[in-house]
Amino acid sequence: MKPSDKFETLAIRTQTERSQFGEHSTPLYLTSSFVFDDAEDMRASFAEEKEKNLYSRFSNPNTTEFVDKITQMEGAESGYAFATGMAAVFSTFGALLNAGDHIVSARSVFGSTHSLFTKYFPKWNITTSYFDIKKVDQIEALIQPNTKILYAESPTNPAVDILDLELLGQIAKKHNLLLVIDNCFATPYLQNPIKFGADLVIHSATKLIDGQGRVLGGVVVGKAELVKEIYLFSRNTGPSMSPFNAWVLSKSLETLAVRVDRHCENALKVAIFLETQSNVTFVKYPFLKSHPQYEVAKKQMKLGGNVIAFEVKGGIDKGREFLNKLKLCSLSANLGDTRTIATHPASTTHSKLSEAERLEVGITDGLVRISVGLENVEDIIEDVRQGLN
Ligand SMILES: Cc1ncc(COP(=O)(O)O)c(C=O)c1O
Repeated sequence: MKPSDKFETLAIRTQTERSQFGEHSTPLYLTSSFVFDDAEDMRASFAEEKEKNLYSRFSNPNTTEFVDKITQMEGAESGYAFATGMAAVFSTFGALLNAGDHIVSARSVFGSTHSLFTKYFPKWNITTSYFDIKKVDQIEALIQPNTKILYAESPTNPAVDILDLELLGQIAKKHNLLLVIDNCFATPYLQNPIKFGADLVIHSATKLIDGQGRVLGGVVVGKAELVKEIYLFSRNTGPSMSPFNAWVLSKSLETLAVRVDRHCENALKVAIFLETQSNVTFVKYPFLKSHPQYEVAKKQMKLGGNVIAFEVKGGIDKGREFLNKLKLCSLSANLGDTRTIATHPASTTHSKLSEAERLEVGITDGLVRISVGLENVEDIIEDVRQGLN
C-alpha cells in the first residue's frame, strides 16, 4: 500500500510485508531461491499467474522494496534493480534495441556509456549520433527513420551542464522516440524526468542514493511495458542487484531527502565562495545565476545538486597542483559521498581524449569537479581556499 505521496514518508514507510517475527526495520533476505507450497503453486508462479518470488536473480523482497521506493519517488509505473549503474544502462539498450537501430544522444555522457555507443553497440549494428548540448536545435536533424532512443543525462558529468528535459520530451513525442534519462546527478529527490516526458529513468545508485560510498547499484524505472522487456532481458542475462546491496540502498533512501538537502546547501556555499576567487576563471553550479542554463535548472530541479565544476587559472598543471594541495577533500573517482571528493578530468578520466574532444564536452584543461560532501561546510571551504592559494 502507498503510505503517502510525500517523498520523505514514502522513503521511510514503503516496506516489505512484516514477517512472523514482527521486526520494525526490514530484515536482510539473503536467500538465492524461494520455496513453493506444492507443484501447482510452483507451476502457477513460474507461469506468472501469481506474483511470487522464485529466485533472487528475478526478484527478492529487499530488491522489491528498493525498487518500489524509487518507482514511487520518480512517479513511474514499474522498475528493476541492477548490480551497478552501468548494468542498468546496458540492459536498457540491450532489451529495447535491435540490430540496425539508431540512438540520438547528448555528447556529454558518462565515459562507460560513451564506450557502449562507440565501441560495443556498433558490433551489433546499433549506431549513435551525438548532439552538442549547446545546440539542441540540431537534435531533430539527427533523427533517422531507424532512430529509437533519445538519450541524455542532466546535470552532465563532469561539466555540470543542464539539458532542458521538457524540450527533449517534446522532441521524443513528436518523433515517436523513447526518451531515456540518466538522472544520477539529480536523484529522484531533485528531479523527476517522467514529468517532462521521459519514458525511462536510470540511476547509478552508487552515488547519492547510497550516499556513503559503500555499495554499487543501479535501477531503471518507467513505463510498465518497457520495464517488462528490461526485466525479461535481465532475468535471463543476470545483471541483477544483490539482496544485500538492495537492503543497504533501501535504508539509504530513508535519509535521501535530508542528506541531499544538506549536500545542496553546502555545494551552493562552496560555489558562491569559488566565484569570489581571483584564480578561478569560471564556476558552474546549476543554482548559481551565472550558470548558462540557470533558468532551465530552476524549472526542472528542486535544488542544484552537489557537484560543482570550476576552472583553475593556469591549465592542466594548476588543476593538478590544486588537487595535490587538498588536505581534507579526497582524490577519488566516486561522487555523491558524505566525503567531499575532487577530481581533475583532463588528466584522469578524460585524458585519452584530444583537447578538442574534451572541449566539445566542456572539459577545459584547468577544470576541477568537486562532489561536495557533508563535512562542516566551513572546513570544506577552508580546504578549497588553501588549495587555491
Ligand atoms: C551519470 C552516470 N551514469 C552512470 C554511471 C555508472 O554507474 P556505476 O558506477 O554504478 O556503474 C555513473 C558513474 O559514475 C555516472 O556518473
